Amino acid sequence: MSYQKSLNIGLFGYGVVGSAVFEVLNHTPSLQAQVSKICIKNPDKPRNISGSFFTTNKSELIENEEINVIVEMTDDSDAAIDIVRESLRRGKAVISANKKMVAENLAELIDLQQQFETPLLYESACCASIPVIRNLEEYYDNDLLHGLEGIINGSTNFILSKIFDDKLSYQEALKLAQTLGFAESNPALDVEGHDALNKLCLLLAHAYGIVVHPTKLLCHGIHRINSIDSEVASAQGSQIKLVARAIKQANGEVAAFVLPQFVKPPHLLHNVRNEYNGVVLTSALADEQFFYGKGAGGFPTASAILADLSALRYDYRYEYKKRLLQAPSVLCEDVKLQVYVSFQDWQMLPVDAFEEISEYYSGKSFHYRKGIVSMKKMQQNDWWKKPGVSLVLLEEGIAKS
Ligand code: HSE
Repeated sequence: MSYQKSLNIGLFGYGVVGSAVFEVLNHTPSLQAQVSKICIKNPDKPRNISGSFFTTNKSELIENEEINVIVEMTDDSDAAIDIVRESLRRGKAVISANKKMVAENLAELIDLQQQFETPLLYESACCASIPVIRNLEEYYDNDLLHGLEGIINGSTNFILSKIFDDKLSYQEALKLAQTLGFAESNPALDVEGHDALNKLCLLLAHAYGIVVHPTKLLCHGIHRINSIDSEVASAQGSQIKLVARAIKQANGEVAAFVLPQFVKPPHLLHNVRNEYNGVVLTSALADEQFFYGKGAGGFPTASAILADLSALRYDYRYEYKKRLLQAPSVLCEDVKLQVYVSFQDWQMLPVDAFEEISEYYSGKSFHYRKGIVSMKKMQQNDWWKKPGVSLVLLEEGIAKS
């Protein structure tokens, strides 16, 4: 199917991102892309454009022969996967911002794209305005890419910035992130780290050819961080950031996880504040490279959707080169992590939690330990996720084995 003439769009969702896409398209006539129909869940919500655009019947978009591109901007990953499957089967190109849906179904979505020779693009699903997926797909060879480390969730970064810089409480900061349209409809996806984890799965596929279901990877959010942890971080000149990592080990395997982490200058992620995202890539010849930009919000996300629409005009599609044309990398099962763990009560800490302890503090109702834990053991026993326990990766990150 050629997209040279015009892009007739069926848009699913008219929330923060969907409405921004509609507005931006109206101001970008050069793209020759227009929205024909918009499918929404709630027809009673007041909206700022003509009611004739809207329907609640998805078939009006998917079965419409005139529509050649589906732009899927819903927040419901179960509904989204059905829409995407059906659209690809019917030969419609799809653009999606739904990182949860893509991450949880990536193996099937790669197969569908190949089988029906239709593209699915999702640059906006990871780091919104930053073109990191296409760069990883097209520019970097996985042999040369030593690792990536990124702040890839705007809401949690916004919340942490507000706590550290503006001294807002966690609840105040979260509410503000919701009001500004950065957070997911279910903000637990942000603060518990799942959104960053879903995005990390997309990065792993395009950086290393690794297709893994998000539930298989180690993940922790920022929801257990308490005010004393913040004081400990400030006292050592650090901030706490939610960081996603994929780091090649000496044996070539890739260690991947999402954890809160102490970050201090001159680390490039230290200055990534508010809803901005940042990804540091380390590669053999170029050394460090830094991608930076807004990671959440209607217009930053719309900018990536526009770039995907534009790419469809020259029949661009992901080739999944690292997976399909090269030997994909393999995830490593275990690494030793250098962590800080604070806890209120001794019973919360299993006796064999640490393999080594390098520093400890005990107060009346607050204790912490710094030392080495096994990633594999953390995945087998989630004592570190319980209320009253807070775990943060130290700057040193992965211990040398
Ligand atoms: N809730 C997401 C975030 C939106 O805060 O990063 C953009 O993916």
